[in-house]
Amino acid sequence: MTYENAVEAAEFIRSKYDHPVEAAVVLGSGLGAFADELAKAVRISYRDIPHFVKATVAGHSGQLVLGEIEGKHIAVQQGRFHYYEGYSMEQVMFPIRALGRMGVENVILTNAAGSLNTDIRPGELMLISDHMNCIGVNPLRGPNDDRFGPRFPDMTSVYDPDLQSIAHEAAEAIAQERFENGSDEEKRDLLKRGIYCALSGPTYETPAEVRLYRMFGADAVGMSTVPDAIAARHQGMRVLGISCITNMAAGMEEGGIDHNHVMATGEQVADIFKELLRRIISKIG
Ligand code: HPA
Repeated sequence: MTYENAVEAAEFIRSKYDHPVEAAVVLGSGLGAFADELAKAVRISYRDIPHFVKATVAGHSGQLVLGEIEGKHIAVQQGRFHYYEGYSMEQVMFPIRALGRMGVENVILTNAAGSLNTDIRPGELMLISDHMNCIGVNPLRGPNDDRFGPRFPDMTSVYDPDLQSIAHEAAEAIAQERFENGSDEEKRDLLKRGIYCALSGPTYETPAEVRLYRMFGADAVGMSTVPDAIAARHQGMRVLGISCITNMAAGMEEGGIDHNHVMATGEQVADIFKELLRRIISKIG
């Protein structure tokens, strides 16, 4: 997966959608419906894009949707590649690298995640303030191509402070409208905030592991996002991360964790999630 491969993919995408793209959105498990919000949409199957691999996991349909929303041209990744599927990190990062070569400057990464924090409940959204890479490998391991970015990228502010402010303001505006008669607490709680810990999966965690990551100080666990965030920052893109909390992590409550339930919870918050994204995008750029 070379720099030239990423340029080739970017040129292919540009040949199908001839507008500068201001932002990209990567949709997590159960959150794919946002792609239907785009006007004048152009859909490109990952299968057709040079050097992309095709997504396999249930709930990830595997296409890039380009179109307009709130007067902005955006690219939406409906489905992503995960390390647990057996792809190399270069394959996992590749779509973000291709988007980078298209000149996309803003990336919104979304995911489904399990909560480690009793104040962040299933069905809630969490703005990612920072992350921990506990996947066991860094996606940038290997020779560095300086045309993507530096050998030793700074990770002090992975999640862009300005984009975070935009997200909080958007959430507040929605809360004002939706819960006009609700308590202050209800209003404040529309978008929680926390640290996302990425693990390789595909198993969910054991209760012992959950206790470990809680001690580390993480608020949510998931199996994606961090490789994308690292690849995006490496290229100097601005990153925003939003987790949809689909379950309490293993052992925090009675019962086990089921992928179908994870997907269904994602779909339950689809409405508010779509509105939040729409408002954030309207303020970007
Ligand atoms: N753990 C890891 N990944 C997840 C979870 C979880 O509990 N829920 C959704 N994705």
